[in-house]
Amino acid sequence: MNRMLIIGAGGLIGGKFKDLAGENFEVFGTYNTHHVEGENMFHLNAVNRQETFALIRKLSPDVVVDTHSLNNVDYCETHREEAWSINVDGVKNIAEACKDNGAKIIFFSTDYVFDGKKMKYTEKDKPRPLNYLGMNKMVAEQMLYGLDINHIIVRTSVVYGSGGLNKINFVLWLIQKLRAKEKVSIVTDQKNNPTFVDNIVSQVLALHRKNRTGIYHIAGSECLSRYDFSLKIANVFKLDTNLITPITTSDLHQIARRPMVVNMSVAKVEKETGLKQDDVYTGLNKLKQQLEATNADL
Ligand SMILES: NC(=O)c1ccc[n+]([C@@H]2O[C@H](COP(=O)([O-])OP(=O)(O)OC[C@H]3O[C@@H](n4cnc5c(N)ncnc54)[C@H](OP(=O)(O)O)[C@@H]3O)[C@@H](O)[C@H]2O)c1
Repeated sequence: MNRMLIIGAGGLIGGKFKDLAGENFEVFGTYNTHHVEGENMFHLNAVNRQETFALIRKLSPDVVVDTHSLNNVDYCETHREEAWSINVDGVKNIAEACKDNGAKIIFFSTDYVFDGKKMKYTEKDKPRPLNYLGMNKMVAEQMLYGLDINHIIVRTSVVYGSGGLNKINFVLWLIQKLRAKEKVSIVTDQKNNPTFVDNIVSQVLALHRKNRTGIYHIAGSECLSRYDFSLKIANVFKLDTNLITPITTSDLHQIARRPMVVNMSVAKVEKETGLKQDDVYTGLNKLKQQLEATNADL
């Protein structure tokens, strides 16, 4: 059986790979600051080059799913050295260790590589990031092309789902707030493609099975504002929409600039895998069933 190593197995996307990839792979995973239980789980700080090379040499994976990242876009803006070391140097360490050991790397990037000036973005569009996180990801993508390594780059957006140990994603955060009857203010003018994490894993595994390489947009099929997304979440989870107040980006005074509207075309991945992305209602309803089935206490 082929071996998969998931960097960041306690994260939202990494955790879902850990749950779903076991049928086809012998799965290994890493954690950094939040311990993940299991005999196949290992500590790794990807910034540490020696530790990274030693682990990848020891486990000799066929494929490495690199989900590690410093994701907080405002924090990255003000902590640039730290962001670069994790988001660029860390990826370089993993990618070069993969190259040395003949492993394929699957790397996660973001819709924030774009400035939002275009109506719809395909994989052929040129990145033009507005913030430091987006710039880090663009540099990491370019570094992977330059290394001439067997790779898939996945650009995704506003991921939600039940994977991951430690992180609370936007949907789970909103459900918690509305259940506690707390008021929230959500922006109407930032639009993206919310993405159900299970769809990401299915499409990536299908691409890998078909020996595909290169760059793919893997994101939800609908581009909608965070406010409209919130109303749908409240409807599906039968929560009070009156607690949600519409605001605009200028009310938020966010540190990092964001592209206002990034609508990613997912035609390429859907055509090549034959798998469709769920629309928002379908994804949210599947999440609801998963949470009910596990009696997850939000
Ligand atoms: N979630 C989204 O909405 C979204 C949108 C666009 C793109 N993406 C991209 O998708 C990828 C996965 O996102 P996610 O939401 O699953 O992230 P996440 O839940 O924050 O998980 C990130 C994982 O990375 C690990 N990590 C952080 N720094 C590390 C380091 N120096 N060395 C090794 N591991 C480290 C963390 O481990 P510990 O917790 O143990 O420290 C954690 O398990 C990221 O590359 C992200 O940029 C995500």
